[in-house]
Parts: sequence; structure tokens; C-alpha cells
Amino acid sequence: MADGIEIGFGPLEQGGQGPGGSGDLVVFVGDDLALGSAARTALGSAGADLVAKAAASEKFKGRSLSALSLPAPAGVHADRLVVVGLGSEKDRAKIDWPVLGGFTASKVSSRSARVVLDWPGTTVSAEQAGEFALGARLRTYTFDRYKTKKKPDAEEKGGTALTLLLAEHGTASREGEAARTLSEGVILARDLVNEPPNVLFPEEFARRASELSKLGVEIEVLEPAKMRELGMGALLAVAQGSVREPRVVIMRWNGGPAGEAPIAFIGKGVVFDSGGVSIKPGGGMEDMKGDMGGAAAVVGALHALASRKARCNVVGAIGIVENMPDGGSYRPSDIITSMSGQTIEVINTDAEGRLVLADVITHIVRSAKPKAMVDLATLTGAIIVALGQDIAGMFSNDDALAANINAAGEATGEKVWRMPLIPAYDKAIDSKFADMKNTGGRHGGAATAASFIKRYVEEVPWAHLDIAGVAMSSNASEINRSWGAGWGVRLLDRLVRDHYEAR
Ligand code: BES
Ligand code: MN
Ligand code: ZN
Repeated sequence: MADGIEIGFGPLEQGGQGPGGSGDLVVFVGDDLALGSAARTALGSAGADLVAKAAASEKFKGRSLSALSLPAPAGVHADRLVVVGLGSEKDRAKIDWPVLGGFTASKVSSRSARVVLDWPGTTVSAEQAGEFALGARLRTYTFDRYKTKKKPDAEEKGGTALTLLLAEHGTASREGEAARTLSEGVILARDLVNEPPNVLFPEEFARRASELSKLGVEIEVLEPAKMRELGMGALLAVAQGSVREPRVVIMRWNGGPAGEAPIAFIGKGVVFDSGGVSIKPGGGMEDMKGDMGGAAAVVGALHALASRKARCNVVGAIGIVENMPDGGSYRPSDIITSMSGQTIEVINTDAEGRLVLADVITHIVRSAKPKAMVDLATLTGAIIVALGQDIAGMFSNDDALAANINAAGEATGEKVWRMPLIPAYDKAIDSKFADMKNTGGRHGGAATAASFIKRYVEEVPWAHLDIAGVAMSSNASEINRSWGAGWGVRLLDRLVRDHYEAR
């Protein structure tokens, strides 16, 4: 991977024995500026004095996520010394390890750096080092595939090698491997979201998802003839205005006991959402290449789960279509029949995601009989109005599943906020001419969309994550500088790990 940084692990003693004085040496201090014993050994007493002096003159106070960079003092085996602040004792008790890893990676400037994970009062565990490594990998990701002139800085960063030094280095390589494959899953999802729709049309998306077969994932690709046979009238209606054929990809990871009901992940994969005949305004329409962020998260999660051979049966299913205006497009007032048999009056062709999800959900509910189901979709602008860009909306018919997803969100930082599902929202989508209509009016747009999906989940414990605000056009963070966030991969991986995997 061009974007990858190399991350290795070593014993703390290596801090004092760097490869002949090259690269960066990174040490950590709290707001008392006290060094851990390994860092102190690596710096020597002259080095430690210099750090204290530099801190004073540069007004470096050791605050959380601040850094001081200076030429390495004589006797220290490095070119440069980077001191990273960890803040108060309270800050140090609740370190966000991926964030610290991301921040640290951004402060390293040489091709190689040794990172001394040692400070007073803490023994960094292998798992924490793994999360640190994850953050470092995610931070250094850039999507520059279509830049013919790469920024020299990007190439420099791309070549960075970090060696994390810690007491538990022996078991860290296993955690490091898990962090690597999880970061690969996130990066796969980011790449898919960032790709333009002329490159990533449904067939190509299906091809890329099919590559998970290399990891032992069973792949089934449904083409339009099969969709017609199954009666997927809702998904096909959305696709009919595009010259690009739709695909449904079903990915099965059978890491659990044979015959055990799987957990299902469903993703909205609209490779481009023009709105169709109910066309969107021009401004910002280019963002709608990211309308497949849900499908990307499902593919990324399956990559991560299969790579670490998760002991769980998982089925991922994505509906991949392009929503375009055309003489052959579906139109407002059309009445279509979904695979479930329920009929839908089309009010607005821009409310297409729920139509795609409806048929994929029906197919999975009936064919895979999942014990729980989570759908991820960049479904509504309304959820962005309600919650902004830092937290996803969650709707669920099952308190236990909702609690598990909430916990996974807190653990990974991919947070969700539960929203209500009340009968009034369901009533809002009743139609004069069909069983339901595909929009519920101006008010409560995210909730009426969720209520629409609810009509297709039958009795399955289900949660719907509206990720329109978090999947793309992301706020820059310590672990992400990319437009496409790859949001949801870490959440789903964690959900499986903490709640659905045999231990
Ligand atoms: N893909 C959009 C939702 C969206 C908007 C995602 C902005 C990311 C950023 C979705 O298909 C859509 O167009 N929803 C409409 C629904 C409306 C027509 C009922 C919306 O939110 O306006
Ligand atoms: Mn739309
Ligand atoms: Zn859409």
C-alpha cells in the first residue's frame, strides 16, 4: 500500500541505541515534564537537561496533544528529538490511544522514528500500543491516486517507519497485526468513498468487494436478471435511469459455529446520487460520490473481520446503484412493488436510498435469517441538520442491540446517538395510492426515513445508522485527514468483538 507506514515494535532499551544517530526519537511527558526511566536513559542527563531548558524557552508545558521538536542533543542516538505532551494526571488516566498515535505520527518528520512508550506511572500495554499504531496508520492516509504531481511531503510521510518501544513488545506484534488489518479495512472504505463514480460504478464496486474472497469471504454477486427474478422492484426502479447496471453483493464470513445465525450488516451503495428526476441543486452535488459510504463501511468491516479470523458468522450485503435522470428513469408518482410485496408510491426520486435498502434487507432477512441486523446508510440530509458531522444517528427496534452499538461507538470514538421511532413517523409515510410513500414530508426527515426501513425488517432485531454526516466531507481529526472517513469499520469490528464473538 503506497500510503502505508511501516510500524514495528521493540524493547524499551532500544531508545538509547538507535541506528547510528538517524531519524527521530519521540518521548512523552506529562504537564510536570517528568520523563520515564527508559526515556531518561535514552536521553542521558545532558539530554534531559536540554529538554527542560527547551521546554522553558519554547513555552512547552506538556499539555495533552502538544509537541516540542528540537535537534537531538549530542550523545542521543537520533537526528531530532520530539517531545509529546500528555497533559495532567487526569488526562493521562484517559488517553485516547489512536488519537495519541495519530498526533505523534503527524509530528514525526524523518523517514524513521523510534517512539519510547514510557512515562512515569504507566506501563503501556500491547493492546494500547496496537491502538496507537492504528491511529498512526489512519493519520498518514492520503488519497492522491489522481494527482500526477505528488506532494514531496506526502511521499516523505508515506515512507515513514515507526518503531514503538515498550515493555510488552513481545505480545505487541500480535496486537500490531490486528491494528494493521483493521486500518486496512478503514483505508479500503476510505478509498471506496473517495473514488469518483466514473471509476467506481456498480460493477467495479462489486469487483472490488469480490476481492475479499482472497481472505476467505464467500462472495455472491446478484446481477439484474437475478434481481428481477427475486422481485427487487424498488432497487431496480432506482437503477433504471442509469446506463450502469446495479449489483447486489453478499459477503459471508463464516468464522463461527456452522449453522449459527449470522449478524447481518447492510450498506447503502449509491455510487452517485444526482437525485434522479427530482434532481438535486448543482452546488455540492459532487459530494454525492460518497453516497455509498454505508456499503464501503460494510466491505471494510468484512475485510477487517476476515483478516483477523473473527469467530463469528457475519453476512454483509450491499445494494449498489447509480441514481440518474434519464428518459428511462423512475419518476414521482410511479408505484413500484418491492421484493417484500409491499407497494411504494414514489414521491421524490431523491429518496432513493431507502428503496435500495428495502430490497436488500428483505433478501437478507429471508435468506440469511440473521439474529441481528445493522444497516448503514448516508440516508438523509436531515440527520446532518439534527446531529452535525461528528456523531451518527441511530434508530433501533431493539434496546439490547442499540446498547451494544452505543458501547462500541464509545469504545472506538465512532459515536452514535439514538433517535426515536414513534408511530407518528410511520403514519407520515402512509400513501393514498399504495402501501407507503417514499418520503414523509418536510418534518423529521431522518426519522420518517428510518420508519420506512422499519417496514422491511420484519421481526429481526435491527438498528439503522444514518451516517450522512459522518461518512464524508469529514472534519479533520488526529486520525483522519481524508474526505471519506471510512466511518463505521471500527465500530462494526468492535461490535462483533465485544458482543458477538465466541471468546
Ligand atoms: N444521499 C442523500 C442524503 C445525503 C445528503 C447524504 C447530504 C449526504 C449528504 C439522500 O439520498 C437524499 O437525497 N435524501 C433526501 C431525502 C428527501 C428527498 C426526502 C434529503 O435528505 O434531502
Ligand atoms: Mn437522494
Ligand atoms: Zn442518496
